[in-house]
Amino acid sequence: MMRLGGKIALITGAARGIGLAFAARYLQEGAQVVLADIDLKAAQAAAAELGEGAYAQELDVTDQVSIDACVSATIAQLGGIDILINNAALFDLDGITDITRASYERLFAVNVSGTLFMIQAVSRAMIKRGQGGRIINMASQAGRRGEALVGVYCATKAAVISLTQSAGLNLIEHKINVNAIAPGVVDGAHWDHVDELFAKAEGLALGEKRKQVGAAVPFGRMGTAEDLTGMAVFLASDDADYIVAQTYNVDGGNWMN
Ligand SMILES: NC(=O)c1ccc[n+]([C@@H]2O[C@H](COP(=O)([O-])OP(=O)(O)OC[C@H]3O[C@@H](n4cnc5c(N)ncnc54)[C@H](O)[C@@H]3O)[C@@H](O)[C@H]2O)c1
Repeated sequence: MMRLGGKIALITGAARGIGLAFAARYLQEGAQVVLADIDLKAAQAAAAELGEGAYAQELDVTDQVSIDACVSATIAQLGGIDILINNAALFDLDGITDITRASYERLFAVNVSGTLFMIQAVSRAMIKRGQGGRIINMASQAGRRGEALVGVYCATKAAVISLTQSAGLNLIEHKINVNAIAPGVVDGAHWDHVDELFAKAEGLALGEKRKQVGAAVPFGRMGTAEDLTGMAVFLASDDADYIVAQTYNVDGGNWMN
């Protein structure tokens, strides 16, 4: 049975990784999906690969003009937006004494401002349409607890959890449910970058950090993007009607609360 039949979903940062896995699963569940990404070529290639019902849009979540254009184009093309997944994010790593203002501003611009102003633009459209909606934000276990070398990224993800709570409480009167998913460590291209940064910062061989974090997961391995798709379908489905302002850990047992 398809759980998202007839729904229209906009997923940011969907050209690869977790966002792309969400897009593929949503299509299987009967939704039409817009893959919105700063890398338009990659989004177009991914949408073409996914086939019917998948569309690509250019989007820079740090740019209000781009946000408005992406939301308008999606509505013009597909008639509305039922589901938004705020998935685009950047990662960086530095001890507190080495963090640069540029890195701080870039991460907050994408991970926090990007999430907030996408919520704003899409929720305005959802309210105008009058059919409610679902918004899912990608948080992280990094938002649950600080990490010595990951101060800025952790702070952005804590902010995403907090924004999920406030937006959830504010928008539920319009039948817009805002919730979040907090993954643990999810293998993929993103982790090539993370692994390289840790190798440099901690003097490790390439691939070592990946092994360490995978071995530390109670489930016994790093997550895959596909491990997260069930929660993304559930939170967008009618079964999650009464779920408001929550952040769910999907992390193989790494974190509990
Ligand atoms: N991979 C993990 O271990 C992990 C763990 C916890 C949380 N997360 C979160 O899950 C989400 C997806 O992670 P991923 O591993 O698939 O990341 P990824 O780096 O593989 O993909 C991110 C996508 O976002 C796009 N993007 C970057 N800046 C953008 C911008 N300004 N506007 C629009 N798109 C932009 C990129 O082009 C890319 O396609 C992120 O929010 C991340 O923080 C990931």
